[in-house]
Amino acid sequence: MYNETVIDHFNNPRNIGELSDADGVGETGSFKCGDTMVLYIKVKNERIEDVRFQTYGCGAAIASSSMLTEMVKGKKIDEAMQITNQEVADALGGLPPLKLHCSNLAADALHNAIIDYRQKQGAS
Ligand code: FES
Repeated sequence: MYNETVIDHFNNPRNIGELSDADGVGETGSFKCGDTMVLYIKVKNERIEDVRFQTYGCGAAIASSSMLTEMVKGKKIDEAMQITNQEVADALGGLPPLKLHCSNLAADALHNAIIDYRQKQGAS
């Protein structure tokens, strides 16, 4: 059902946890299953310097979050904003069709964290 990459990221999630001094925080949830995710970003010179996530969801959601954090660390926030759910799923080597919606959580949480960061920048 899951490939080796997905299982590896599920069993050994990268960048899990919270950033207490995050510059942006994004939350999202799935209406389909009720799972939720929070993603924290630390930004320096318009690049994502650090990223962490907390996912209360299925294995595919955890693997997607973990992969996403590896994809965005060091990326410019404008580039990170362009990352799609499909790219996260592709980076994992694919997800079973019934689990594709799980990868939405990761990209959506990232986009919300960037929006939060930009709003905070605008407010300061
Ligand atoms: Fe809910 Fe995967 S089943 S995120």
